Amino acid sequence: MPHDPLLALRPWDSPEITSWRRLPMNAVDRRSGALCLDGSWRFGLLPSPDGLPADGPRADDLPGGWTVTDVPGAWTMESAGDPPQYTNVRMPFDEFPPRTPAANPTGVYERSVDVPAEWTGRRIVLQVGAAGSVLLVQVDGVPVGVSKDSHLAAEFDLSGVVRPGRAATVRLTVVKWSDASHIEDQDQWWHAGVTRSVLLYATDPLHLADVTVRARRDGRLRVDCAVRDAAGALPAGWYVTAALDGRPLTRDTEFDRLNAEDMRVSDFLGEARLRTVVEDVRPWSAETPELYGLAVRLHRADGSVADTSHHRVGFRDVDIVGRDLLVNGERIYVRGVNRHDFHPLTGRTVTVEDMRADLVLLKRFGFNAVRTSHYPNDPALYDLADELGFYVVDEADIESHDHAHEIADDPRYLAAFVDRVSRMVLRDKNHPSVIIWSLGNESDYGANHDAAAGWVRRHDPTRPVQYEGAAKVDWADPALASDIACPMYAPIEDCVAHALSGRQTKPLIQCEYSHAMGNSNGTLADTWAAIESTPGLQGGFIWEFWDHGILQRVSDGRPAGRAGAGLYGNGVTAPGHRWAYGGDFGETVHDGAFIADGVVFPDRTPKPVMYEHREIAGPVRLTYGEGVLRVHNHQHFRSLEWLAGEWLLVRADGTALGAPAELPEVGPGGSAEVPLPFPLPEPGAGEVWLTLRVTTADDEAWAPSGTEVCLPQVRLGAAVAEAPPEAASGPAVTLDGDALLVHPLLVSAPVLSLWRAPTDNDELGGMAARWHDWGLDALVREVVDVREDGARVVVRSVYATGAGPVRHEQVFTPVTGGVRVEESAELPAGLDDVARVGTVFETVPGLDVLDWYGQGPWESYPDRSAGAPVGHHSLPVDELFTPYLRPQESGGRHGVRRFTLSAPDATGLAVELGAPAQVSVNRYRAGDLAAAAHHDELVPRPGCVVHLDAAHRGLGTASCGPDTSAGYLIAPGTHRWAWTLHVL
Ligand code: GAL
Ligand code: MG
Repeated sequence: MPHDPLLALRPWDSPEITSWRRLPMNAVDRRSGALCLDGSWRFGLLPSPDGLPADGPRADDLPGGWTVTDVPGAWTMESAGDPPQYTNVRMPFDEFPPRTPAANPTGVYERSVDVPAEWTGRRIVLQVGAAGSVLLVQVDGVPVGVSKDSHLAAEFDLSGVVRPGRAATVRLTVVKWSDASHIEDQDQWWHAGVTRSVLLYATDPLHLADVTVRARRDGRLRVDCAVRDAAGALPAGWYVTAALDGRPLTRDTEFDRLNAEDMRVSDFLGEARLRTVVEDVRPWSAETPELYGLAVRLHRADGSVADTSHHRVGFRDVDIVGRDLLVNGERIYVRGVNRHDFHPLTGRTVTVEDMRADLVLLKRFGFNAVRTSHYPNDPALYDLADELGFYVVDEADIESHDHAHEIADDPRYLAAFVDRVSRMVLRDKNHPSVIIWSLGNESDYGANHDAAAGWVRRHDPTRPVQYEGAAKVDWADPALASDIACPMYAPIEDCVAHALSGRQTKPLIQCEYSHAMGNSNGTLADTWAAIESTPGLQGGFIWEFWDHGILQRVSDGRPAGRAGAGLYGNGVTAPGHRWAYGGDFGETVHDGAFIADGVVFPDRTPKPVMYEHREIAGPVRLTYGEGVLRVHNHQHFRSLEWLAGEWLLVRADGTALGAPAELPEVGPGGSAEVPLPFPLPEPGAGEVWLTLRVTTADDEAWAPSGTEVCLPQVRLGAAVAEAPPEAASGPAVTLDGDALLVHPLLVSAPVLSLWRAPTDNDELGGMAARWHDWGLDALVREVVDVREDGARVVVRSVYATGAGPVRHEQVFTPVTGGVRVEESAELPAGLDDVARVGTVFETVPGLDVLDWYGQGPWESYPDRSAGAPVGHHSLPVDELFTPYLRPQESGGRHGVRRFTLSAPDATGLAVELGAPAQVSVNRYRAGDLAAAAHHDELVPRPGCVVHLDAAHRGLGTASCGPDTSAGYLIAPGTHRWAWTLHVL
């Protein structure tokens, strides 16, 4: 049996072979007029590429026989034999680079294509949008090309191979593991397949090989065209014209004449440069994504059009001046997120609608930037970023995390580094959204990076280059391959110190910060307060957008695949399904739930942190002091005209007032005093809050008019200390034999709680282990004294912990209609970092609605509460809980002053808190949450579990990065709190 010569070369074991006969990358859009080859393909999965016959596998070579699969798609998401596997740093196999394991799943895709008869005489090109990690292409049994790089398109010239008017058989052989896997070791699921669309298109032999557009904010436009002819030699007399928004820019009008200096024509190489200045141009920025349509036409000598390329042009400047990154001369803030191409049903295959939904959501929550972690994303993402307005850090597909040091200087990988970076730049260079090129991620720093950086700096001097691995050597050294100081997870104090040190030479924009794993993103507001008050700091990219949970059927453990559409919503899955993370597909090498670390659930439901971000990033802020109310425009380029507002006044007594708001005319960065919309409260009238509900005034590309944009709030009147309720001749406090409060609405008496179901940050930061060692997860109460003091009952208890005894006192006092409870807990010095100090009790079933006065309506915690305004809020208990993929502490509400928990007939209980407290009400004990690995394992309790916390530890971000700051930790010593329980 003849062997395919390409297979015989074993390109999967040869880093020097980056491709064979793969066409140069370019920015000419070939989507219109192309034949789309997406859809059903014949598919067979082999255990390895070894010995594959040249004419393709026979059915008995294939353990699963021939099947049919959808292109684009990852076979790991659809077929039983090779499920997804998640690893973070470590490779899923032991072989050292460039070696691959003997077991190397290899997918063979085949289909027949009718090549249109009208394509006779034309140049015919096959474009495979993405396949990985190695793609070998045969057409009618003839090898036509090889490529590597799982996240960029590969094009092959089929002109001499297919015959127009006849059918051709296209075979794509995809080998899963290769030398390239060692440089695609990103923290994500391992997949394989043909994961983006496949196209076949034809051009005239005389064609545009590339178009490069440079458009400046002063209206200068330069278009460079590369012209080639399939025959090699160019025909005489060709020329290029262009039109902007339909207006011809011909060589005799706006464009300079195309003369000999502008147009270099050799026998093989044609280049044309067109220039013009567009008057009164509307510049592009993330806030004002103004685009112009550019059509570039290549003409034959007789004037007929040989080729056309369409582009959307944004006129904008990106500069680094001193240590500032400027867009259109403005020092912008980068409110970014890291985004993977991800979908819970299709793995890494995403549709344009999916990507639009991602970006629309980000826009609605105040994000203005995306880092395409950690590879060039689907091309449509960049079109959408241009259109909706995002700054993009475009990242090359290079991460050699497990073998970083070996590879960064390995000359065998040199070509791959330069190839991947240069192909990305050639593909994406015309997008105004792309403001920075990134050389990749977590691959150490070596000569291979410098080679790639050198290529980019020469080829595209209009954009900075960044690479975290280079920047971390020294944030300030200009010789390194990073124009930006782009650390990951640097403590904000270090960033501030650098900016104040006098040594800073480059903009400091963290490529990753605030790790969103589980219930996380503590101190985001403090971080931004530091950024905005420290010249030299410009923001960063939150890690990351997605929780990469894959929808899985629990019955057979297989990915639900495309059939799973509709089996989820609001973050949770339908019964019988779950969000799978590492280890859930039976794999033994994996990194667990570390894959679930995004600001949205796998179905794109926003997590509570999104509201925090929305407020921090809000275009409008309010300040109030000494009777003066000011509205601030916190944007870089826009006025407030696109926004509408509404005032809301909230008083502690439950009254609320509304009034329409007139937003002042304030330019970017400015502020204006506005009259108080309501008379000031009398001094001593208690707490009064003023909120400005800001919405879109008109339809935006990313939101219909009336969409909430932010909710800035100021306090107009402070709380006045109220005398504790008098002891009254209410019903006597009843204790049972164990000295616990007996109450008709409680099924468990209030006891001390010092523990929470560990968050991912608590687990990975080591706090959970300490709490366990101290025994906080299994406190046992020992009552040491019960004393009656008139109507009051004083109960003293001791809880033994590994760091010494905790003394706890509860004083129960009957008050009219209820009971007042005053508590104190004395934490020994060794107990210096507990999860909470407070009370927990459980209620009878049927109390299903929580009404509270405090921060909300969404979940908030002491170090993540900037986005939750104080108000009167109400939610069903079941909606208070946040279904983080791995169950953990969730659903808390910060700054709660009082609440009621009621049944539909309005019976229930009311709790007044002596001071604003962290309250959580849900269906699970902390131990229930801690014991479950997935949300579907949780069994709700019939009643409510209620926590009233005098102190609750901040969330921090310790699963990857800094823990919360000291101010959000719970100090040892005496904590006191009080609450009053009434029956409604
Ligand atoms: C970074 C890395 C990301 C991800 C993150 C943790 O070090 O660049 O890919 O692994 O940590 O979730
Ligand atoms: Mg990594």
